[in-house]
Amino acid sequence: MACPENMFFLIVLFISGVLVCFGQRDLITTMPDRLDVLTGSCVQIPCSFDIPDQHKDTFNSTILTSGVWIKENSNFGERPDNVIFNSSKTVNRYQGKITGNMSQKNCTTVFFNVTTNYTDVYFFRIESQPFRATDYDKSVYIDVRDFPSSPVLSVSGEVKEGTLVSLNCSAVTPCPEHPHELTWTLPTQFTTENQLQENPDQTKSVLSTVTFTPSYLHHEKNITCTAVYPVGTSNKTAEHNMMLNVSFSPKDTSASISPDDPVFVGSCVNLTCSGTANPPVTNFTWFKISEGKTTQVASGQSYTLNVTVGDGGLYYCEARNSQGCGKSNEVQLAIKGGGEHLDSPVGLT
Ligand SMILES: *[C@@H]1O[C@H](CO)[C@@H](O)[C@H](O)[C@H]1NC(C)=O
Ligand SMILES: *[C@@H]1O[C@H](CO)[C@@H](O)[C@H](O)[C@H]1NC(C)=O
Ligand SMILES: *[C@@H]1O[C@H](CO)[C@@H](O)[C@H](O)[C@H]1NC(C)=O
Ligand SMILES: *[C@@H]1O[C@H](CO)[C@@H](O)[C@H](O)[C@H]1NC(C)=O
Ligand SMILES: *[C@@H]1O[C@H](CO)[C@@H](O)[C@H](O)[C@H]1NC(C)=O
Ligand SMILES: *[C@@H]1O[C@H](CO)[C@@H](O)[C@H](O)[C@H]1NC(C)=O
Ligand SMILES: *[C@@H]1O[C@H](CO)[C@@H](O)[C@H](O)[C@H]1NC(C)=O
Ligand SMILES: *[C@@H]1O[C@H](CO)[C@@H](O)[C@H](O)[C@H]1NC(C)=O
Ligand SMILES: *[C@@H]1O[C@H](CO)[C@@H](O)[C@H](O)[C@H]1NC(C)=O
Ligand SMILES: *[C@@H]1O[C@H](CO)[C@@H](O)[C@H](O)[C@H]1NC(C)=O
Ligand SMILES: *[C@@H]1O[C@H](CO)[C@@H](O)[C@H](O)[C@H]1NC(C)=O
Ligand SMILES: *[C@@H]1O[C@H](CO)[C@@H](O)[C@H](O)[C@H]1NC(C)=O
Repeated sequence: MACPENMFFLIVLFISGVLVCFGQRDLITTMPDRLDVLTGSCVQIPCSFDIPDQHKDTFNSTILTSGVWIKENSNFGERPDNVIFNSSKTVNRYQGKITGNMSQKNCTTVFFNVTTNYTDVYFFRIESQPFRATDYDKSVYIDVRDFPSSPVLSVSGEVKEGTLVSLNCSAVTPCPEHPHELTWTLPTQFTTENQLQENPDQTKSVLSTVTFTPSYLHHEKNITCTAVYPVGTSNKTAEHNMMLNVSFSPKDTSASISPDDPVFVGSCVNLTCSGTANPPVTNFTWFKISEGKTTQVASGQSYTLNVTVGDGGLYYCEARNSQGCGKSNEVQLAIKGGGEHLDSPVGLT
């Protein structure tokens, strides 16, 4: 094959010597390293190209330039079958279209109705007059699968009760002509906002941001983001589940007393504080209300007393974590016998 590029190579080689030319590219393309595609869908390959300085004089962008895609191996000489798309032909092995403006060095290409046997590496080549070149150093790996991969969910920072939270869900859209939709399933009311984003490698992603105000009731409940890809006349879906971890101050804090009947002086009584909190309670504090005054009497989840005459009264506990504190109901410690507190059912001393 007496391609002009080879002749040019020989001339450069002859003039400048091996070291100058060796390893230099005749064409510089920019495209993603890989694309994940769904069977039956289309794939858009974001692509642009540039002509290296040593060929700038040979390439004339005003002359119609055709684009060629070669699979498997850039050296298509021995395998003409590997040329799967040639924009100067009307019939190609792959149904496709160069949607970019080649005059602006935009070689963005869409292939339609991809099947799993399209999974391969692809090289780009331009053919114009007199310049023709393939970029041997850059290829895109296209991976075609029957099922979409899960969208990516992200939360920023802590999810706290009563504080507005935003979650992002995103999924790359290989076929921006038929972008997928993202839908949410949440245990509460929410608002969403969707946008099409461009990634650093020029591929596009759909990003959906959901905003809601969690309460402690949503702790350990699932959130689901579902990506729905239109493929032909049906849909394919992939979802990402996430269990919510909501930080909340102690809730349902409750004090209990055991035994809860009036007791004799000298017997043992347990006061226990319970409830729910995330993160767990770090500090339980017991208070006694007596003669209208509240005094702190103990700390710890349970408080055991060997009852003395002055112990009768109302007790409550406070549970505390990093998010705040919760106060319990009041329980009564009533004393049987023991002189002045005789059988007072209300027990207030
Ligand atoms: C590019 O091609 C156009 C059309 O053939 C011609 O008019 C123009 O002079 C060429 N430009 C260069 C820099 O060769
Ligand atoms: C692309 O098609 C043109 C026109 O048929 C042809 O001249 C050229 O050789 C083809 N390129 C390749 C790489 O097959
Ligand atoms: C290249 O063409 C594609 C498809 O027409 C377009 O979406 C993209 O923005 C273009 N890229 C640049 C860098 O102009
Ligand atoms: C492609 O780009 C050239 C040069 O910028 C412009 O003249 C031409 O109109 C563009 N073609 C299309 C189809 O946009
Ligand atoms: C894709 O294939 C279906 C049948 O499998 C056909 O109806 C449809 O026209 C094709 N679409 C394109 C863009 O080639
Ligand atoms: C890919 O496989 C399909 C059947 O799944 C077949 O019809 C088609 O010809 C194959 N295409 C290529 C390029 O091998
Ligand atoms: C969600 O995406 C937006 C836009 O990219 C970004 O500003 C924000 O920080 C992201 N939020 C999360 C929770 O990742
Ligand atoms: C596909 O999903 C879209 C968007 O979620 C929906 O409107 C449409 O009814 C679904 N089509 C089928 C066939 O399930
Ligand atoms: C929540 O999601 C997990 C997977 O992350 C799943 O195993 C579990 O069944 C889901 N629970 C509910 C109530 O949907
Ligand atoms: C309670 O205290 C008294 C006096 O110190 C003691 O005699 C009694 O054994 C204690 N009762 C219990 C259940 O520990
Ligand atoms: C009080 O609690 C302790 C330890 O939790 C337990 O051993 C004891 O039996 C309890 N006493 C009563 C009266 O419930
Ligand atoms: C628990 O709370 C009490 C009363 O607020 C305080 O004195 C004590 O230092 C706290 N302990 C811890 C470990 O935070």
